[in-house]
Amino acid sequence: MPPRRRDGVPVFRDFLSYRADPLHFWLSSGQLAPVVRIGLGPFLEYWVVTEPDFLQHILQKNVKNYPRERRLSRLNRLDGPELMFNTDNWEEWLWRRRLMQPAFHRQQIARFAEIMTEEAGRLAGSWQPGQAVNLGYAMKTLTMRIIGRTMFSADVGAETDELQETYELASAFTFERASSIWVPPLWLPTPANRRVKTAVSHRYSLLRRLVEGRLASGEVKGDLLDTLIGAHLEENGRSFSSEDLVGEMGGIVFAGHETTALTMMWLFYLLSQHPGIEARLLAEVEAVVGMARPPTLDDLPQMPYTQQVISETLRLYPPVYVTLREADADDEFGDYHIAKGTHLVLNIRGLHRDPRYWDNPEQFNPDRFAPEQTKNRHNFAFIPFLGGPKKCIGDSFAMMEMQLVVPTILQQRRLRYGLPAPPVEKPGFVMEAEGGIEMRVISHR
Ligand code: HEM
Repeated sequence: MPPRRRDGVPVFRDFLSYRADPLHFWLSSGQLAPVVRIGLGPFLEYWVVTEPDFLQHILQKNVKNYPRERRLSRLNRLDGPELMFNTDNWEEWLWRRRLMQPAFHRQQIARFAEIMTEEAGRLAGSWQPGQAVNLGYAMKTLTMRIIGRTMFSADVGAETDELQETYELASAFTFERASSIWVPPLWLPTPANRRVKTAVSHRYSLLRRLVEGRLASGEVKGDLLDTLIGAHLEENGRSFSSEDLVGEMGGIVFAGHETTALTMMWLFYLLSQHPGIEARLLAEVEAVVGMARPPTLDDLPQMPYTQQVISETLRLYPPVYVTLREADADDEFGDYHIAKGTHLVLNIRGLHRDPRYWDNPEQFNPDRFAPEQTKNRHNFAFIPFLGGPKKCIGDSFAMMEMQLVVPTILQQRRLRYGLPAPPVEKPGFVMEAEGGIEMRVISHR
């Protein structure tokens, strides 16, 4: 059985509704039916999936059949080296993931806790009461510094802004291309193509310098790059080449800095709108850590509410709010026949706000992540990091980072949103806010 179609118009089909308001488009598609067929222009059709069982089928039960969408992987590549994030070949993905996985184990990343609290403490300490802060920018700079130090022991310092800019430019460029019916090919020397190529080549020369410098010096610094350099597969001795390392490092910096930054941006905004929740969070920090020292990993198990607030933020504002897959071969799920080549939108944000799975889905309520509330929930109803073998490799890193950074900032400062209108969500590859959310530092604790 084919899924129900959304009402479109001739030729453009649903493209104009999508372009007018992408967020409403994904939400309303999910509300129309658990699986709905949409057309973005005359040739590109997707199934929008907002159903936990079907998502589990795609992401876990028959995951090999559903690589990332090839069209998007091609657009994403932008002349960069091969990397796990972009490959649509299962075997290629698997050896890269297996080499990379140990570097992200909990015990491996535990050593980065101090870097995280040190950077967060430094940022909060630099904010003066009364000062206006662009929260999006501040959080991105913070997470970029953290990823720079934990990945390659680099105080990327002056280069942080430049590196961040190359990611922002390339993401905006690719997102626009991915959301258009037709785009000029990358080899055409248009001003936009030239600008993005220069930025991407600048990014990789910076990363190449870091990787090649380390390989040449043979230094061991105890960072993630060391672990990746030393990684090899037992059965065939396979390891990453220098160019693989450059590609993978670029991918990790991309996947690992904006996601956590934007989650924390939305989190601090939500706290400013819910002083009761903020007070309860602060009370937990005071009781477990106090205000005189930064939190440590040993504190985290005693701070369940902090984790609940983060999870609830990830439910309402999952930074990766949709992602795309493509069927490699014909497949069946329930009454559906999924033909080879079917393109699928995994509607993460739509699912997280679906009243079929969440009471009062628009309400910010961290208590819905209390243990007694989660035990009967479908494993694939809350998937900010996805699920199954291709789940985000950095999920523990991200959770640890946010569980340490949020209390560290709250120990020193609180932030208030002063504008009458709420911030405007701005969907790109990740969920931004228009202008980055301006906040005022109001108190010094
Ligand atoms: C709130 C924070 C984060 C969220 C919500 C998030 C979400 C995701 C999601 C949804 C995917 C799967 C995308 C897809 O397959 O279509 C993914 C993949 C990935 N993430 Fe994260 N991520 C976060 C933080 C991080 C961090 C901190 C790192 C690294 C330090 C990281 C590294 C990666 C990598 C390398 C992949 C590709 C995995 C693969 O292809 O097997 N992420 N992430």
